[in-house]
Amino acid sequence: MIDRLHDREPLRVDLASQPTRGHWLRYQPSGTRVWLKRDDHTGSELMGNKVRKLEYLLAEAQDQRATHILTCGGEQSNHARATALAAARLGMASVLLLRTDDPAHPPAPTGNILLDRLAGAELVWISRPQWRERNRLLAEQAERIRAAGGRPYIVPEGGSNALGSWGYIRAMRELADDLAGIASPASPVTVVYACGSGGTGAGLILGAKLFGLAARGIRVAGVNVCDDRAYFLDAIGAICHDAEARWQLDTRVTPDDIDIVDGHVGLGYAKSRPEALATIRDVCRSDGVVLDPVYTGKAFHGVVTELGRDPGRFGSAVAFLHTGGMFGLFASPETIAQVL
Ligand SMILES: Cc1ncc(COP(=O)(O)O)c(C=O)c1O
Repeated sequence: MIDRLHDREPLRVDLASQPTRGHWLRYQPSGTRVWLKRDDHTGSELMGNKVRKLEYLLAEAQDQRATHILTCGGEQSNHARATALAAARLGMASVLLLRTDDPAHPPAPTGNILLDRLAGAELVWISRPQWRERNRLLAEQAERIRAAGGRPYIVPEGGSNALGSWGYIRAMRELADDLAGIASPASPVTVVYACGSGGTGAGLILGAKLFGLAARGIRVAGVNVCDDRAYFLDAIGAICHDAEARWQLDTRVTPDDIDIVDGHVGLGYAKSRPEALATIRDVCRSDGVVLDPVYTGKAFHGVVTELGRDPGRFGSAVAFLHTGGMFGLFASPETIAQVL
């Protein structure tokens, strides 16, 4: 267990099972070896990448003696579910603003929504046009809670801000240990992650720079599952620069540090193509590892596609970060059933 990560490290509350383990996959796309970092094992109900960010965000909330945690996401948001459960674990209430097609007819309580409800979260359904106003709507909900005598704390979309990024600075420290003996300057390895709102990427990139990992042959690349490369150069750059300013980190992240592997969004966010679903099936059959269709499966299929074009794209091996997401699979079983 790593205790103090860095002399500027902010307060942290223990929520995740860490360090997570890793292992090689039998599945080798285009003959490239893939090592899997099991961040889907950060917990059971709290599984995935979000809990690492919440360790820092909810520590700040506790420090401010918050009574309610507010956040937002898509209807099957893994982040919203993890926030609701982590808040409950720490004795706080949660309010989730969830985006859906028709707020007057919210979706059935399946997958993550079922867990949100089980954790007692208050669900506020918002439309796609309202989503553009999410920060204002979160502020309004916070005002409502304050007026009723509570103390709200707002966690931004995906937990992706400078404070949340410490979760993946910390994970990068683990990866440095994990990959010692696997990566070297002569035999570089790329840590590949699914990029959805940029916080995981920002933390990994800051961590790689803080711990000097490029010199040890460790690179970082994100496969975006929504938006595009230009969007994430901005989003990740902004989070890194906020963190650098807030904690005086001498990392000086530039766009050259942000490798976004674009072209794998397919039909759109949370929409799957049969070939990506087939990759999820094949990995499960060869290794007993379950990827999710929205994030990890789409990103992993991106890796497979890139390696098909250029087997050297990621160096001598890929260290794929499994960021969780399995509950989403149970929200629309008919999707994955297409390839079974
Ligand atoms: C399972 C899973 N993987 C990856 C991501 C992407 O992480 P980030 O939002 O930090 O880019 C998310 C969150 O949106 C997620 O739920």
